[in-house]
Amino acid sequence: MIRYIAVAACSPEGVIGGGNQLLWHQKADMIFFKKITANQAVLMGYNTYESLPENYKPLKGRLNLVLTSKKIESKWDNLHFFSDIESMETWALTNKINTIYLIGGALLYRSLLPKCIMLYLTKIYIDELTLKKADAFFPLDFKYTHKFQTERFLSNDDNDFDYSFEHYILNPE
Ligand SMILES: NC(=O)c1ccc[n+]([C@@H]2O[C@H](COP(=O)([O-])OP(=O)(O)OC[C@H]3O[C@@H](n4cnc5c(N)ncnc54)[C@H](OP(=O)(O)O)[C@@H]3O)[C@@H](O)[C@H]2O)c1
Repeated sequence: MIRYIAVAACSPEGVIGGGNQLLWHQKADMIFFKKITANQAVLMGYNTYESLPENYKPLKGRLNLVLTSKKIESKWDNLHFFSDIESMETWALTNKINTIYLIGGALLYRSLLPKCIMLYLTKIYIDELTLKKADAFFPLDFKYTHKFQTERFLSNDDNDFDYSFEHYILNPE
């Protein structure tokens, strides 16, 4: 069985993006994301893959698994496209991958968060103007058994908004 672990950054309202991109520059979150997912398999929807800057595609030092109905050939050893969750899981298990980090976007979080055992959630305290640009949201109605939360760190030259790190142990269905 695959162990799913979710990693996301969202505002207290659940905003994760707008116009198929992130709505903030948060270096601290990028560093955290890199650390958590280094040398791991990451699963994303096609829109999230598309939203990555060209020079970040596929994410280096990670096995990139992308869900899409499009028939696309990968040119990279660490990038694989799948047309459904079942074929992706079968391929993963055949390749001895037991843990998958779910990294978005909204559609993928909505469909697979119920299977996740853990969630690393960075809270980004966005402003009203940024909130208005949002069209992608994290499903915040998840059930959990344990929550750890850091202090709220203040915005600075490297981080547009205040932020904190949260870690949840989830109740997978
Ligand atoms: N803040 C964060 O942590 C974070 C993380 C990731 C993404 N984001 C943001 O989230 C937004 C994108 O989210 P989104 O909901 O639009 O897109 P998404 O979840 O990234 O991708 C959705 C697409 O994935 C494919 N897909 C999904 N489920 C599938 C399945 N079961 N089988 C086959 N294909 C499947 C489909 O692609 P096809 O149409 O090609 O079939 C679908 O249109 C962007 O704004 C991005 O910046 C934020």
